[in-house]
Amino acid sequence: MSGTFNETLARSVDAYIAELFAGPDEALERGLRRAEAAGLPPIGVSANLGKLLYLLARLARAERILELGTLGGYSTTWLARALPTGGRLITLEIDALHAEVARRNIAHAGLGDRVEIRLGPARDSLRALIEGREPAFDLVFIDADKEAYPEYLELSLQLVRPGSLILADNVIRDGEVIQDAPSDPSDRAIKAFNETIARHPRLDSLVLPIIREAFDGLSLSLVR
Ligand code: SAH
Ligand code: DHB
Ligand code: MG
Repeated sequence: MSGTFNETLARSVDAYIAELFAGPDEALERGLRRAEAAGLPPIGVSANLGKLLYLLARLARAERILELGTLGGYSTTWLARALPTGGRLITLEIDALHAEVARRNIAHAGLGDRVEIRLGPARDSLRALIEGREPAFDLVFIDADKEAYPEYLELSLQLVRPGSLILADNVIRDGEVIQDAPSDPSDRAIKAFNETIARHPRLDSLVLPIIREAFDGLSLSLVR
């Protein structure tokens, strides 16, 4: 069979998978409603990507997770649910309103005891974690401002151990990264990020194409 693959079919298949494997979920849906009511942009991960983050964290047996970019706490909730008793998740957010909405959503999901939101530019929080000799994270999820992804990768590499997993959202950018020289600065930074993780001596990496509002992707890098 050929010629049937198109955007409408791709979205329908994504919805089919989400219905079978990623829902319904009262805490997550209420969190999305609260985020919308508070005026937050609807740019969090999809239900299917949330489920994938959860499964990857379980597979990695992650007990310490670091997230860059909290928004309303949707991906935070998926990741924190993968933690064992005593596990910890630190999530970095620059916007005080986003952090407050996320704090409420995470508390409502029953995860307030294991999640800490650090308010401020992720760069500063990462440097403080490095200076403070924070124990290694088992999983890092990069999902904040796209132009800083290359820098976030270098800082994250100082906070992991061999066997840790570094994930990054939005690395296909509706296909813009296949251009030789994307005009948008975020697209250019993501393209550079992808080239870095592809060649990095400390990483074994791949990008998974992900269907969402636009065509996007998640990178997976295993630290050697
Ligand atoms: N991970 C979330 C979505 C994050 S959207 C989810 O999937 O549910 C990106 C978030 O990064 C926004 O909340 C934005 O405020 C935050 N952000 C943008 N620039 C930042 C910076 N320099 N430091 C920390 N957070 C930043
Ligand atoms: C944007 C950020 C994201 O993390 C995302 O998944 C989608 C869009 C944005 O800043 O536009
Ligand atoms: Mg994202």
